[in-house]
Amino acid sequence: MSEPLLQIRDLNVHFPVKEGIFQKTTGHVKAVNGVDLSVNKGETLGIVGESGCGKSTLARTIIGLQKPTSGDILFEGESLPNYSAKQMRALRRDIQMVFQDPFTSLNPRMKVGDTIAAPLKAYKTTNNLEHRVKELMELVGLKPDDHYNRLPHEFSGGQRQRIGIARAIALEPKLIICDEPVSALDVSVQAQVINLLEDLQKQLNLTYVFIAHDLSVIKHIADKVAVMYLGKVMEMSDSLSFYKNAQHPYTNALLSAIPFPDPEKERTRQRIVLRGELPSPADPPSGCVFHTRCQFAREDCKTNTPPLKQKGQNEHYVACFYPIEREQEVKQTKL
Ligand SMILES: Nc1ncnc2c1ncn2[C@@H]1O[C@H](COP(=O)(O)OP(=O)(O)OP(=O)(O)O)[C@@H](O)[C@H]1O
Ligand SMILES: [Mg+2]
Repeated sequence: MSEPLLQIRDLNVHFPVKEGIFQKTTGHVKAVNGVDLSVNKGETLGIVGESGCGKSTLARTIIGLQKPTSGDILFEGESLPNYSAKQMRALRRDIQMVFQDPFTSLNPRMKVGDTIAAPLKAYKTTNNLEHRVKELMELVGLKPDDHYNRLPHEFSGGQRQRIGIARAIALEPKLIICDEPVSALDVSVQAQVINLLEDLQKQLNLTYVFIAHDLSVIKHIADKVAVMYLGKVMEMSDSLSFYKNAQHPYTNALLSAIPFPDPEKERTRQRIVLRGELPSPADPPSGCVFHTRCQFAREDCKTNTPPLKQKGQNEHYVACFYPIEREQEVKQTKL
């Protein structure tokens, strides 16, 4: 069995809410609220959830841009919050990030070749910079001779994401956190970028944490899926068991939103529409945080918090007192 590269244990990231002229702390936004996750070497963990559920905060905390309020993050068995400055510098090579909007993360006045060369220069990893940059451009499907001296605005969204990916793989990292890398792209381009990420994973033995707000995007790429809601993991499982036998009412609502490729099936698809508004993470509901929108909620869901518990034989975990069994045929379809 493959060993875990990243383990997240009871992680909390709370932001103080300050009000008034004296900026008094009046509460906390519980962006990440007691999260446990792990990713094995060479695997892809997909993290899905609605806007504001804490996905990016979790990503930023893993790469050290955000301090955790409590809990632990272990990378190759070592606790990240206790890393020294020297270890942190090494870690910045090992964990890289690909962002949703590559345009804002690229310097508009810097040529693409120089953009990709920047991390290589910072870490002085090569004597032949131009050769390495061209090699990276080829790896991500850009044309070195044509594209090297161009500026970011001369590229399409998909090509710009390829530049972001080239930068992310430049230092041969072990883990890449992709924070909604295809959300801003057309569906056809999304598939190309996901296929590229998969090819690179095989070639370079990469491990991914792949964040999306839509389960259909990660269906093809994720080995393991975790669903987040208001800073908490609601369900986590290997991909096959997840799509076949999702048990949390929230996961089932998300799954019901995925359109079928077959128009006949699509006509009969029953979408579960969640009632009510998404509550604020500054004032999450008591008990199960999902109870205010759950059609199956009972009295005790309002007061007791369901722990993330293993269901059955598989590595399938559900945080719900009344999970729904839902065996269903699954075909792993490409986007
Ligand atoms: N630096 C910060 N200070 C205060 N609150 C913050 C900060 N960063 C994030 N938040 C809050 O934490 C919550 C989670 O935000 P986060 O960006 O992690 O969500 P997300 O799941 O990535 O959403 P999206 O899908 O829109 O990207 C939100 O309510 C957000 O307003
Ligand atoms: Mg985000």
